[in-house]
Amino acid sequence: MIETITVLGAGTMGYGISLNFALAGYAVNLFDVRPEALNNALLNARKALSVMIEEGLHTKEEGEKALAGIRPFTDRPAACAQADLLMEAMPENLRLKQDTFVELDALCGPDCIFASNTSSLKLTDICAPLSQSRKSRALITHYFNPAHLIPLVELLPHPDTPPTVLEEIEAMYKRAGKVSIRVLKDINGMIGNRIQAAIGREAFWLIENGYCSGKDLGRALAFGPCFRYATTDYLEIVDLGGVDIWSVVHDLLYKDINSSTEVSGLLKNKAASGEHGWKTGKGFYSYEGQAKAEVMERFLRNLARQLKVSKNYMF
Ligand SMILES: NC(=O)c1ccc[n+]([C@@H]2O[C@H](COP(=O)([O-])OP(=O)(O)OC[C@H]3O[C@@H](n4cnc5c(N)ncnc54)[C@H](O)[C@@H]3O)[C@@H](O)[C@H]2O)c1
Repeated sequence: MIETITVLGAGTMGYGISLNFALAGYAVNLFDVRPEALNNALLNARKALSVMIEEGLHTKEEGEKALAGIRPFTDRPAACAQADLLMEAMPENLRLKQDTFVELDALCGPDCIFASNTSSLKLTDICAPLSQSRKSRALITHYFNPAHLIPLVELLPHPDTPPTVLEEIEAMYKRAGKVSIRVLKDINGMIGNRIQAAIGREAFWLIENGYCSGKDLGRALAFGPCFRYATTDYLEIVDLGGVDIWSVVHDLLYKDINSSTEVSGLLKNKAASGEHGWKTGKGFYSYEGQAKAEVMERFLRNLARQLKVSKNYMF
């Protein structure tokens, strides 16, 4: 039974993952090699919680209890020895993830489940140097940023991991209020990121070629297709619209929509210019002075509101 969860890496993903588990009543050990990362993570968790409390997702008492339930560690053996689940959210580096898992394989109890939040590495590669028994308790648990607010977690078990382990993880995510999905075969980008990339290819092409402004592209997504994708099963949307119509329209459009195998020049040039978005103060929009904090606050608050509303239609 999963009671203690150790999160390795207290960066962008680690603090949100820890907060989500702590809010669900799990004991969370948060480990990082940098003490300042741990301090920031706890600060970020506190800020994130205050928005969730203001939006009525949790009470102040629940928030305080959750924060007290996240224990920061710079001593890895102390953080991991009693863990029932290890969840790594360390930098996207195969060697680092492999070495860490091998070292912890020897330290953790035989039942401890090893999970990786990798976005692009193959689980079979990360687990290649692990003992056979640990391979049978390993999986990818892929979150979306911010991890405490986006419900989806994609699960991809190691080929040697039996369904019982997957079911235990699914039960844990149910308790944590997440929507987990099973990725049935190993595939780059899993499901969510592949769809995001497909949208991105066409979205950047439409803007770059003057078919609409960036603002209107955003409105088209939010108040058009994504408005219904957010509330209703995808194949049901097709059924409701008419399978015959979808078939004809897609057949016509596939011949016309962008099929480039390279990223759009608009995105590539922006990245090369050093305008990397919110973190550098400028990307497609400007984030200077007061605006910087306000934009992040609005982003988190709107997601918290959406999360609250989504409780009525999760499917
Ligand atoms: N950022 C995203 O949007 C996102 C989304 C989904 C998945 N991911 C994946 O999650 C993982 C973490 O991404 P991130 O954006 O949180 O990275 P990050 O750089 O923000 O955080 C990584 C943290 O790991 C710490 N770290 C470095 N070496 C360590 C070690 N040996 N042991 C423990 N901690 C160590 C760093 O100090 C840092 O605090 C990556 O695999 C990434 O691909 C990221």
